[in-house]
Amino acid sequence: MKALIWKDLHKIELVEKPQPSIQHPHDAIVKVTLSSICTSDLHIINGAVPNAKIGTTLGHEFVGEIVELGESVKNLSLGDRVSANCETFCGECYFCKQGFINNCQNGGWQLGCSIDGCQAEYVRVPFADTGLTKIPDSLSYENALFVGDILSSGYFGAELCGVKQGDNVAVIGCGPVGICTMQCARAMGAGKIIGIDINAARLELVKTKGYADITINPKAQDVLLTLKEATDNKGVDCVVEAAGGKDTFQTAWQIARPNAVVAIVAMYEENQTLPLPQMYGKNLIFKTGGVDAVHCAKLLKMIEDKKLSTDVLISRCFDFQDIEKAYAYFADKNSNCLKIALKYD
Ligand SMILES: NC(=O)c1ccc[n+]([C@@H]2O[C@H](COP(=O)([O-])OP(=O)(O)OC[C@H]3O[C@@H](n4cnc5c(N)ncnc54)[C@H](O)[C@@H]3O)[C@@H](O)[C@H]2O)c1
Ligand SMILES: [Zn+2]
Ligand SMILES: [Zn+2]
Repeated sequence: MKALIWKDLHKIELVEKPQPSIQHPHDAIVKVTLSSICTSDLHIINGAVPNAKIGTTLGHEFVGEIVELGESVKNLSLGDRVSANCETFCGECYFCKQGFINNCQNGGWQLGCSIDGCQAEYVRVPFADTGLTKIPDSLSYENALFVGDILSSGYFGAELCGVKQGDNVAVIGCGPVGICTMQCARAMGAGKIIGIDINAARLELVKTKGYADITINPKAQDVLLTLKEATDNKGVDCVVEAAGGKDTFQTAWQIARPNAVVAIVAMYEENQTLPLPQMYGKNLIFKTGGVDAVHCAKLLKMIEDKKLSTDVLISRCFDFQDIEKAYAYFADKNSNCLKIALKYD
């Protein structure tokens, strides 16, 4: 079968690999029907993910059909249409039992990082009972494509902040994660949602779709001043940093009101500075993390109930065989691509 591997620093290649087979009784083999490319894949290619292994098939965002099951898989059947979790987790260890699946002692972010991922025709999914969620009949593969990664990450950002009814929520970065955070914050009852980005087209999108009530472009506006005016001089109740820009961590804590939660969902490629003397007395709560993607079934239900939709994220479709072109398009800032959907025959 064809598989897209991380060849070397800044290099990928579509190669021929053997079809995966069941290696463990909890595995499933999924025939991929749609997959996507994540900014985290670009971080791997840039050498910024320590656990990533050269030669691994990339990709951790996909939907597909179950074609083979290990004998211990309980909740899934052959032919099931499933959406995949970007994380592998056992469901049994200390961390899994607390819901902290990103730190599963038997898993973590493995697919497309340390073990072969989904940018291939077939993928082996360990711990299939926890790693795959059945897609409700009323939803298409497209509807469910982003549930296990981008949508989970967006939900995670809003959840880390504990968004309450009426909270003003600032989301830095109006990319796919930011857009999902805004929708989830809205579903949690947020008051004003403020979208911050330096990309005018993305700001326009979140405003016209109603994901954000206010948009701010730091290149054209004073972020602090605009937010003070919008929040009776208080600052925002919740901040989700989903940009990962050079100065966005600093913006994140500065726009937060005292005692706010600042949730860092972005993955930085460089160290950030925590200027404790300057923020002393502001009594902020910082939360960081790789997504604990434990709400896939709930998110699918919310899509069914029309409370969320990620369809807007698919900017362009490519045939899987053109995946190298798709990577170039996705990585090109000028293409203004939110997400790619890769289609398989
Ligand atoms: N924590 C997790 O588990 C997890 C999961 C998925 C993605 N991520 C990370 O979340 C971040 C967002 O992901 P995405 O797919 O939406 O990425 P993206 O690159 O499409 O979106 C980031 C947005 O931030 C904006 N931005 C960049 N610099 C800025 C600045 N200085 N000021 C304002 N806006 C700025 C960009 O214009 C862009 O619209 C990435 O860092 C990604 O690696 C984390
Ligand atoms: Zn991802
Ligand atoms: Zn575990």
